[in-house]
Amino acid sequence: MKIAVLAGGLSPERDVSLTSGTMIANALVRRGHSVAFADLYLGIGTDIPDESLFKREEMPVHKIPGREPDLDAVIASNGGSRAFIGRGIIPLCAMADAVYLALHGGAGENGMVQASLECAGITHYTGTGYIGALLAMDKDIAKKLMKAAGVRVPEGIRFDAVADDPKRIENEVGFPCVIKPCSCGSSVGVSRLYDGRELEAALKSAASFERYLIVERLIEGRELTCGVLDGKALPPVEIIPKAGWYDYENKYRAGATTEICPAPLTPDETREIQEMAVLACSALRMEEYARADFILSRDGGMYCLEVNALPGMTPTSLLPQEAAAVGMEYGELCEKLVELAVAKGNQ
Ligand SMILES: Nc1ncnc2c1ncn2[C@@H]1O[C@H](COP(=O)(O)OP(=O)(O)O)[C@@H](O)[C@H]1O
Ligand SMILES: [Mg+2]
Repeated sequence: MKIAVLAGGLSPERDVSLTSGTMIANALVRRGHSVAFADLYLGIGTDIPDESLFKREEMPVHKIPGREPDLDAVIASNGGSRAFIGRGIIPLCAMADAVYLALHGGAGENGMVQASLECAGITHYTGTGYIGALLAMDKDIAKKLMKAAGVRVPEGIRFDAVADDPKRIENEVGFPCVIKPCSCGSSVGVSRLYDGRELEAALKSAASFERYLIVERLIEGRELTCGVLDGKALPPVEIIPKAGWYDYENKYRAGATTEICPAPLTPDETREIQEMAVLACSALRMEEYARADFILSRDGGMYCLEVNALPGMTPTSLLPQEAAAVGMEYGELCEKLVELAVAKGNQ
């Protein structure tokens, strides 16, 4: 099959995506496919793609630097372009038998790329459609829909960093609380506050990414995540950071966390997280695959924090670990997602 793998883009998760994308491309090449790898934002430098872009050779894997990417430098390197979708990307996708979205965050995860592809008549892309991606990307909308469907979520408010009075936070949520941008990922801009001393800095940090923020109760407990593949929950993973909490550095620095899959939960807890993950995906109209993040609170409540439309996809990422726990190795998982994309395209 001819597969276009789209990665990179202009989100703070750009580096993570380039790593997922290069590894996915190599796994698909190893399974006999012809793969054209392209940076969503930088494009392919021509409006008329050539068949020779689809290669059967593996490529060097992108390494994630310890720090978040300098997006201004990336924009400057591309002539200051503000277009999310680079030159030649749509024609390249139209040429392919399937489009693999190895994107994380931003336009790749909030439904904009999915909707753009559909506008161009391209429906054979991996992962959920644009509606599910959009609903899940906005943590405020997602929480409201999940709560209505019976999924437990942390109590909180949406906060407008431009117009709202910070006193709302103390009055309506209180401490300890978590402040995070409504629609980022990888823990960028997330702060955990135990009192008001760091409030101003936390608001400034989150608002540097986005105007709308989530302020919610901080749930102390165990960090868990549970993937859903083709409507069925995978075994959950427990994530234990060696120091601190599950921030950007602990997410991407090798060896910074211990990950246990299947998570050492009681059968009832496992059943609950899996049911909640499936329910959350259905509430958010997410199809094909997704990964829901949870905290099991000290008093036993299972709280869903969010659902990721395009979760990390390196072989050591959480969803691939969960698939491995049911005997599906990485290349097989990548190929399964391509098969689901092709089936969706044929509907
Ligand atoms: N309400 C909360 N209580 C405790 N920790 C939280 C809460 N919300 C977020 N966190 C911490 O921040 C991390 C990132 O939050 P999350 O909502 O999953 O956003 P994202 O992964 O998209 O950045 C979580 O994995 C968790 O460690
Ligand atoms: Mg998360």
